[in-house]
Amino acid sequence: MLDNSHIQIAPSILSADFAELGRYVAMASESGADSIHVDIMDGQFVPTITWGPRTVEAIKKWSNVPLDVHLMIYNPENQVDSFIDAGANTINVHVESCNHLNRTIQQIKARGAKAGVAINPSTPLGVLQEILPFIDQVLVMSVNPGFPSQKYIPGSEGKISRVKEMISQANLDVTIEVDGGINADTARLAVDAGADILVAGSAIYDHQHGVKSAIELLRSSISS
Ligand code: DX5
Ligand code: ZN
Repeated sequence: MLDNSHIQIAPSILSADFAELGRYVAMASESGADSIHVDIMDGQFVPTITWGPRTVEAIKKWSNVPLDVHLMIYNPENQVDSFIDAGANTINVHVESCNHLNRTIQQIKARGAKAGVAINPSTPLGVLQEILPFIDQVLVMSVNPGFPSQKYIPGSEGKISRVKEMISQANLDVTIEVDGGINADTARLAVDAGADILVAGSAIYDHQHGVKSAIELLRSSISS
C-alpha cells in the first residue's frame, strides 16, 4: 500500500457558483481541502475573464486554508502586490505571460508569499531550468488553461515526471502542482509521476454526492 497521505488537494473555485463564492470556499475549506485554488483570468492570455483582487479579499474570510492564486494574465507583475495584499498565500505566474520572470518571482518572495511558475502543455520544460532554484512550486498544466471541465491531456504524467527529475537533479525543495482534468481516474497518474498538489474543479464541485465525498474519493483514488 502506497502512502500518499502527504498529497494535497486544492479545489478550484472556477467550478463554484459565482454568486455564492464565499459559501463554496467555506464548503471546501471545511471538507478537508488543503488550499483553495483561485483562477484569475484576464480575457487576453486566456479567453475567459474571472475575478480581481477585491474578490480574493472577499473570499479570504471564508477560508481556513491558504489561497493558491493562479494568475492567467499578461504582465502579472502589475497585479502581484494587489493579490498579496488581498490575502493570496501563493502566487503562480505563467512562464508564457511574464517578460521578466526572475524579477516577478523576487517581487512575490519579497512580499512573503510563496512563488509558483505555471507552464502550459505545449511549452517545453527547458524554460524552467534557470528559475527553478528561486521558486517554491511548479504548476504543470494538464489542460490548456481557460476553462473548467476539460479532459486531462494524455501523457501529461510524462511531463510531470520530467519536472520531478529536474528538481531532484538540482537537489531542490520545489513542489509540483498539477492542474486540469484531475479526477478519481487521472489523479493517480499525476501522483505516481510526482505530483504533490492536485487541483480539481469540476471533479469536486460538480460531484453528485457533494464536495466532502468528492475530496474523499480523490484521496482514496490515490491511496491504494
Ligand atoms: C484551467 C484552470 C483550472 C480549472 C480546473 O484553466 O486553471 O484550475 O479550474 O478545472 P477542472 O478540474 O474541472 O479541469
Ligand atoms: Zn488553475
